[in-house]
Amino acid sequence: MTHICPALPRLEQLPFNGDRTSAWLEVQQVGDVAVSESGTYFLIGADAVESAAKNPAVFSSSDAFGLLASPFPLVPIAIDPPEHTRFRHMLDKFFSPRSVAAHETELRTQVNELIDGILTKGPTCDAVSSLTVPFPSQVFLTLFGLPLADRDRLIEWKNAIVKLADVQATEPSPDVVQTATELLGYLTDHIAKPREANATDLLSQLLADRDHDGMTDAEILGLCFIFILAGLDTVTAALGFALHALAQDAVLRHSVRTDDAAAAVFLEEILRVECPVPSVPRRTTTDIEVDGVSIPAGSACWLMMGAANRDPRRFESPNSVGDQRNNHFAFGRGPHRCLGSHLARLELRVVIQEWLRRVPEFSLATPPEVLWPSATMTFTALELNISPARHSDLV
Ligand code: HEM
Repeated sequence: MTHICPALPRLEQLPFNGDRTSAWLEVQQVGDVAVSESGTYFLIGADAVESAAKNPAVFSSSDAFGLLASPFPLVPIAIDPPEHTRFRHMLDKFFSPRSVAAHETELRTQVNELIDGILTKGPTCDAVSSLTVPFPSQVFLTLFGLPLADRDRLIEWKNAIVKLADVQATEPSPDVVQTATELLGYLTDHIAKPREANATDLLSQLLADRDHDGMTDAEILGLCFIFILAGLDTVTAALGFALHALAQDAVLRHSVRTDDAAAAVFLEEILRVECPVPSVPRRTTTDIEVDGVSIPAGSACWLMMGAANRDPRRFESPNSVGDQRNNHFAFGRGPHRCLGSHLARLELRVVIQEWLRRVPEFSLATPPEVLWPSATMTFTALELNISPARHSDLV
């Protein structure tokens, strides 16, 4: 039996910037499916989110992301199966735990260089501008074989395309379009450059595959854009949330610093409770009933990963970082499950391990705020008081 879909509270008015537990509870109280004033459906319960994410024939990504009117195919996020399967088949091998582990030593060195810079300036720092924003951009440049000197330009371009890609935004400003065009020019130039014969970076490997039924130049460009959209702010967000939790809890700091298994569980729990991507878009291809609510064909829908991650029917103590090993929703579900999850986990582990080794004691200097509303929930700044380890602790 179908029933009337309850109305969703205005998300932009909920306190996601400061009190995310209250905000998510308010969303969950409405029910497992809700509809906004503009007729967009929101899937809230873990079962509803899970079944929609695993049903791309009805909950299409291509129709949802197609709205971005991109000049090149947004591979693989805006492609539905069966075509999507071919792209994942080409890409998964570059992002397996083994492939990303090959970068660990280099990334550890880079984190330490960033921490060196922070410690020379101490005894306070903004961890966002000095660590959690620059590091993921450096990782992108490293993986793609691009010069690290381009990091700050990449960050500016990223900020512009995040605005351009906001599916809910109104027309982007001319400045934003111009910056995105510059990024396109930069990437196109690099794609056109002659490659060294045995280059192992991702861009060179994708370009080498191009001649063997691989991706076209336009598809590779689209992939670069998606990496920048999907792989930078998300890691920034998760690193910020991890440092924020650690700054407030000396016992947690000690266990995460001294016990690798505890560190792994902590990072998964942070991803669950402080889900960086609160929801992902889809559009229905046919009429469908979800938890007794009938959703018409062609409806815009958001699958609320952040709410599913705190569903008490799925997770014990859903609103606090605990010690449960869980299959959280932070990396999504179904065919579009995050391509970069192993890379993201490596980045989180390397940064948190090195930070705690070099800065075992730190605290919040001011309570941070999350940018809201936003496609990625990330702190705008994270001011910390820091106490570097004594030299003897480092050997
Ligand atoms: C903590 C960090 C990260 C979080 C929380 C995250 C979250 C997500 C989520 C929720 C999705 C599913 C989107 C959907 O269903 O529409 C996704 C997809 C994706 N992510 Fe991540 N992501 C992270 C890091 C990364 C990184 C580092 C990369 C870079 C390689 C990346 C690349 C992608 C790509 C390419 C997709 C699309 C996959 C597909 O459509 O098949 N992500 N991510």
